[in-house]
Amino acid sequence: MNSFIDIRHPERIYETEPLPAWTYLNAELLELEYERVILPSWQFVCHQNQVREAGDFATLDLWRDSIIVMRGKDGVLRAFQNACRHRGARLLDGDGTCKHRITCPYHAWSYQFDGKLAAVPSEKTFPGLDKSQLGLKELELEIFCGLVFVRIAGGGPSIREQWGELAQELAPYRIEEMVPAVGVQISEEWACNWKVALDNYLDNYHVPFGHPGLNRLMDNELACTINRHGISFSKSAIRARESHVWSERMYQRLAPRAFANLPEDVRTTWLFGFMPVNIGFDVFPDSMDIFQILPKGATRCVIRTPLFVRPDVRREARAMQFLANRINAQIGHEDKALCERVQAGLSSYQYQAGPLSEYEMPVKDMHARLRAACPIVTLKERPMDGTLCRLNQQMIEGAQPASSVSAMMPVA
Ligand code: FES
Ligand SMILES: [Fe+2]
Repeated sequence: MNSFIDIRHPERIYETEPLPAWTYLNAELLELEYERVILPSWQFVCHQNQVREAGDFATLDLWRDSIIVMRGKDGVLRAFQNACRHRGARLLDGDGTCKHRITCPYHAWSYQFDGKLAAVPSEKTFPGLDKSQLGLKELELEIFCGLVFVRIAGGGPSIREQWGELAQELAPYRIEEMVPAVGVQISEEWACNWKVALDNYLDNYHVPFGHPGLNRLMDNELACTINRHGISFSKSAIRARESHVWSERMYQRLAPRAFANLPEDVRTTWLFGFMPVNIGFDVFPDSMDIFQILPKGATRCVIRTPLFVRPDVRREARAMQFLANRINAQIGHEDKALCERVQAGLSSYQYQAGPLSEYEMPVKDMHARLRAACPIVTLKERPMDGTLCRLNQQMIEGAQPASSVSAMMPVA
């Protein structure tokens, strides 16, 4: 499929230039983006198969916030803010299983798996305490293809609504059957603003030159399909011409026959999906990873890439997973180096960016969403320190309704 579906008439609505350089360097803007763009978006926490039993939990640390996903005794998965209702202590770290209750490490308030406050030591010293009002703050949770997502600032379209018909593209890969791959690194810090990594993920234009290995292996589709919610994806098919690199060549040879239980085209197709505002879906016949970009400061971010595989003990399946992981690790090194080079260039004196290609259409779409959510980013020059939030609010209040929508909302 080499089509580009754009219901928004890019020639009329999209800006041809990317966001100005100052927006990739500014700590005040990051605060605004966090509140207006990141908190209202769905964030990946774990696979449902990682939290199968009552008391099983996983956490996600997201800059100022932290999220717990926990399986209740009633079998229901719930998400909570990872902050004790007494004085705010973080309750859980990493992932694991709670035996009886969630017990705060500070003064030992304890919570049931459904978030209700169960016990308070020296309860008599809290006159009039109403435990029913002090349960953990519950957050929105949605399971999509077996993947557990949470939204901290609730409201807006569900994931299923956002993907719409495009969800069918993921179905043949049977992601819901997958389990975490063991022994792979799943997070890394990059020296760049989170939007540099975001732009890079959305940009297929860099693939032929920036990723020579990927380009030898796959016939990369540089145009993207994108819907009104900003869900985009492109597909790459394995090239018939064999690579001269051993791991790539072995992958090319194994792929058509290793997963005979998948539809024929799926066996040799890689799919790169994206869900605003920071979640990539890299889906392969043998495995899939989530590419999640978490801000860590104006010029730093954490790239979280948990990898999942279908349980399969066959030698060729494990060989495919090993080879894909090796090939992808190289792509990750290349992207990190490219993003850090971009970050370095953006701070050049009076730097001004050039136009974007049609192959960077998802970047244009994402930038349009960011401009709508934080209109301050339309300013060519950096606003004076301390004025950014107030100016942004004035711009929102003075804007036409069409440009005051959240970045997560569909664009009509
Ligand atoms: S902060 Fe958790 S019990 Fe005090
Ligand atoms: Fe890349």
